[in-house]
Amino acid sequence: MVFIWILATFYKAPSSNKEVASRKECVECHTDESPVWVQAWKRSSHANLDKIRNLKPTDPTFYKKGKLEDVEKNLRSHGKLAEGEQLKEVGCIDCHVEIGAKKKADHAKELRMPTADVCGTCHLQEFAERESERDTMIWPAGQWRMDVHHTRWTTKRT
Ligand code: HEC
Ligand code: HEC
Ligand code: HEC
Repeated sequence: MVFIWILATFYKAPSSNKEVASRKECVECHTDESPVWVQAWKRSSHANLDKIRNLKPTDPTFYKKGKLEDVEKNLRSHGKLAEGEQLKEVGCIDCHVEIGAKKKADHAKELRMPTADVCGTCHLQEFAERESERDTMIWPAGQWRMDVHHTRWTTKRT
């Protein structure tokens, strides 16, 4: 928690980059700029929500479909997703600017490093458990940040 607080308090967006970019442009430019981060994201569930949506009941990861629907229901109740609208992806801009951002974002002013409460907006259950300090926490404190851009976290099956 302390570390997260530090991030939230002292994070400053790099002022060297004057881009004002759309959801798509974030990914496009960063494909050249930080390919490793983009590749990790492309393999993650966050970039492949349709795969989850199309899971068959016989698939061992079918339960994720229910989780995705819970997330969507929750986002609708917060007005971050319209009635009947599906969550297409969790993109760079959702975590690093604002969940559900539709307009362009100013790289130098609006960029953030997401803190636990950003994740918790969607992952109600995981983050409630994390906060309550039970021993069965799904994402132990200190590790949740690692999961985002690292290869351990992937829905890709071979
Ligand atoms: C035209 C290229 C370009 C576009 C478009 C772009 N970025 Fe960047 N981004 C960069 C570069 C270059 C850096 C390296 C940091 C710097 O500017 O000093 C960077 C850095 C970052 C970082 C790391 C910041 C840090 O403190 O290290 C994040 C996160 C990020 N960008 C997210 C985004 C998001 C979200 C969008 C879309 C709103 C976006 N970028 C659009 C080029 C781009
Ligand atoms: C689910 C939320 C999430 C998504 C989606 C996401 N990021 Fe991140 N990103 C994070 C978190 C959390 C960190 C900081 C923790 C870490 O180092 O893993 C981070 C760190 C970064 C950094 C490193 C900043 C630094 O200086 O250490 C860059 C660059 C970055 N992200 C770019 C991107 C780009 C580009 C995309 C889209 C292709 C993206 N991120 C999508 C959550 C996300
Ligand atoms: C806009 C909503 C949203 C945000 C914000 C978000 N996620 Fe997710 N995340 C999802 C959805 C939907 C899934 C797919 C369903 C599932 O597996 O729970 C997912 C899946 C995951 C998974 C994969 C679980 C698995 O078993 O493959 C991890 C890990 C994860 N998210 C971590 C994070 C972290 C850490 C953050 C914050 C930096 C974050 N998420 C932010 C919506 C979100």
